[in-house]
Amino acid sequence: MKNIVILVSGRGSNMQAILEAQLPLKVAAVISNKAAAPALEIARQHGVATFTLSHRDYLDRESFDRAMAEIIDGHHADLVVLAGFMRILSPWFVEHYRNRLINIHPSLLPAFTGLDPHARALAEGVKIHGCTVHFVTNELDRGPIVAQAAVPVYPDDDEAALAARVLEQEHRIYPAALRWFAEDRLTIAGNGSVLLKNQEKPGGVLPVPDLVG
Ligand code: GRF
Repeated sequence: MKNIVILVSGRGSNMQAILEAQLPLKVAAVISNKAAAPALEIARQHGVATFTLSHRDYLDRESFDRAMAEIIDGHHADLVVLAGFMRILSPWFVEHYRNRLINIHPSLLPAFTGLDPHARALAEGVKIHGCTVHFVTNELDRGPIVAQAAVPVYPDDDEAALAARVLEQEHRIYPAALRWFAEDRLTIAGNGSVLLKNQEKPGGVLPVPDLVG
């Protein structure tokens, strides 16, 4: 069975969805860069080893990342899973875990990379919004897309309502993407697109778990 290590900074609802999805993989450890992250307690309740690292104890970004990598590699992680980890990773870290580092972003990438995607989606008046699971590259919130789910945007939505609608989909597609990884079904093609082996519908199109008009 493959091992994953999850990196968090806060609430931990995606981490919790992954822990509760009964995936055929082992969550070997959870690492937070914030001691107060509620995610840590949730991980402990699930019997997962937790670690907290503060950037203040390290000279620079790369030293912090190397300390995280020691824990991650010590747990023989096949995949590093970012689940609300709110720190930019060094090029060294991204290269060390090339094709083994995955993230979820609450927008339909490549739209609305970076902070406040829901507020910006509302400000643009988009009618469809959503979330994306992708492998991580050195470009912020860019990289081979594994799965996406879309939700409608309603005229009376505020940021909280839209975020909640998207979060519900995050909790579906992140465990689904990790299941595909656990089953060895994901390949990153030469052109950077992700192929899913043995999918029900042929044609190289990843299934969209939920597309609402
Ligand atoms: C999620 O919306 C995720 O997409 C983004 O940060 C948020 C983390 O929420 N990267 P949680 O900690 O998983 O509840």
